[in-house]
This record gives sequence, structure tokens and C-alpha cells, in this order.
Amino acid sequence: MSLRIGDDAPNFKARTTEGEIDFHQWLGNSWGILYSHPADYTPVCTTELGRTAQLKEDFAKRKTKVLAVSVDDLDSHYGWVKDINETQNCNVDFPIIADNDKNVATLYNMIHPNASTSATVRSVYFISPDKKVQAIITYPASTGRNFSEILRVVDSLKLTAEHNVATPVDWEDGQDVIIPPGVRQEDVEAKYPKGHRVIKPYLRYTPQPNK
Ligand code: BEZ
Repeated sequence: MSLRIGDDAPNFKARTTEGEIDFHQWLGNSWGILYSHPADYTPVCTTELGRTAQLKEDFAKRKTKVLAVSVDDLDSHYGWVKDINETQNCNVDFPIIADNDKNVATLYNMIHPNASTSATVRSVYFISPDKKVQAIITYPASTGRNFSEILRVVDSLKLTAEHNVATPVDWEDGQDVIIPPGVRQEDVEAKYPKGHRVIKPYLRYTPQPNK
């Protein structure tokens, strides 16, 4: 059965370009992103892994570890990483799983047989420090992912895990957020001391609480 939001993120042991890992141990208390790549030496994946390396500081600032999956072997990964570093002007130093037995791809439902019986789609799993799946986004192999959106989702997940708010359309870190419908109007002032705006009884904004 496929994984859904709120499910436990399955643990696994895997060989990676940075050594053997136990997924949960490797995550420790960090947030995690586990994302799949259809195959090594493919152009779109090359740009995505390059972007991930370029965003190292942005992920670190968010205390978020990134782990890539590709169903090729380690030797292939090492050769490909050299190409990624050369062509994307970066230094890939996060792990890429050698998932040639498709163990991780199967556990995380990354192969969609009607798209391809052997290559993974582009899945992104966002995992919280308690090892729960908090968000999933999925693209076909032909569509490269938007890493600004991936960082934006991390910002929203971390904010909404710590504060009783939701983030509106196209929200970016620092902008006003939504007071959830479950909060009674008579409680709003005490719970949102930075102030609030009522547009409709169900549409209420407040400044981002942690800014
Ligand atoms: C790519 O990563 O470039 C790619 C992989 C499979 C199909 C199309 C593009």
C-alpha cells in the first residue's frame, strides 16, 4: 500500500555514496527529504542534484537533511557525481542511495508501473524528526522539480508543526499566515498576540508568530 501523510516513514539500511546508513539513525533529530531520481546519467536529474548541492546552506539553515535515491549501483553513482560537479559547478556531498535492488523505491512506492516498470518517478517525501511522513509531492520523470517550492514546503511544515497556523496560497517565509478554522474567535486575541485581520469569519490572518 502506498504511504500517506501521517504514516510512519519506513526505516531501511542502504549503501550510499557517503557510506552505509540506517535511515532513521542518519536522520537523527533533523527533518528529512527523501527524493527519487529515475536513473543515473540522465539530464534532468543531473540538474536537480546539482541544485540540491548548491542549496546546501539553505537546507542546513532549516536543519533538514537530504537523501537521494537512484536505482543504479555505487560505481555508477560515483562517476555520475563527477559529471554533476563538473556541469553544475557544485560539490555533491550529500548521500545518494545505490538502490539497485529497488528496496527503497519499493518501500516508498517510487515506481509507478503505468509510467515505467523499472525507473522511479520523481517522488519527494518530507519527514519530520519523529519519523512521520508530513508531505509528499510527485512528478513524472519529464518534469524537473522546483527546489524553491521544496524549501517553501519545509518552511511551512516546520512553522505549522510549532504554531497553530496554516500557510496561504504562495506563502513565503515572513508573510502573514492563516488562523485555522478550529480556533474560536473569542480565543484569537489571546492566542495570536501579534494581532489579526478578519476578512470573513473563516478567513483570518495573523503575522507569522516566529518572526
Ligand atoms: C532525466 O532525468 O533527464 C529524465 C529521466 C527519464 C525521462 C526523462 C528525463
